[in-house]
Amino acid sequence: MPTLLKRLLRRLRKPFGASAKLVIYRHDLEDVALDVPRPFRLNHRPDLEAHRQSERWLDTPTFLHSAHARLNGGEWVYTYAEAGELLAWFWVVPEQTRAYFPSVDQEYRFPLDSYAFYEVYVCPNARGRGLYTAGMRQLLAEMRELGRVRHVYCAVHADNAVPHKVMRALGFHAEACLNFRRRLWKQTKWMDSLSADPESPDSPPMNP
Ligand SMILES: CC(C)(COP(=O)(O)OP(=O)(O)OC[C@H]1O[C@@H](n2cnc3c(N)ncnc32)[C@H](O)[C@@H]1OP(=O)(O)O)[C@@H](O)C(=O)NCCC(=O)NCCS
Repeated sequence: MPTLLKRLLRRLRKPFGASAKLVIYRHDLEDVALDVPRPFRLNHRPDLEAHRQSERWLDTPTFLHSAHARLNGGEWVYTYAEAGELLAWFWVVPEQTRAYFPSVDQEYRFPLDSYAFYEVYVCPNARGRGLYTAGMRQLLAEMRELGRVRHVYCAVHADNAVPHKVMRALGFHAEACLNFRRRLWKQTKWMDSLSADPESPDSPPMNP
């Protein structure tokens, strides 16, 4: 669908205004525990084939089409499957230099030797078992072991409380906030740089 048409439809859905805030988290891989459980597999295509539709908006053929395109494009995927069913996954972009975030209509640039992960997803029937936390611990350990990774990045919407809690508990620091606001036809976009100190008053609020 052409971008202009998409924008128009979005505006008709929320005619008076909309806002979004995205927090950019960074981990510098200091003090990373290496003796952690590693239940996720890396780039294991059979796990992807074990995808079962659990969300209305993500059917299996669409998931597989996009997953294979990403792998062929050089991205990595961590997967966790159990009893023939894919239960959790997340994607890693090696050596990421920049990323565009549609929800805030902004680009962010990363320093050299940054790896970014995105689209962490745990199926509803497997939530609350620690899979997300285990996957993040495994990722940090394996990034550290690679030796060439200096920073690990991710972006979290300000209103998604669980990932903020987990990121901070694992030693990620909020580096920036990307903001978007629209009132009627007026759009404002801006970036706040934040202190790397998680206790600082500059640290982002959990809710926008
Ligand atoms: C967010 C998500 C990845 C969490 O996965 P999960 O495997 O259930 O998370 P964990 O079991 O590792 O739990 C992590 C922490 O959050 C808490 N938690 C998990 N779900 C929670 C909920 N719905 N409400 C409150 N706390 C919750 C857990 O108790 C745990 O806290 P603790 O470490 O103090 O015990 C999962 O809910 C999901 O896929 N959501 C939809 C997609 C999404 O939001 N992805 C994140 C994008 S950045």
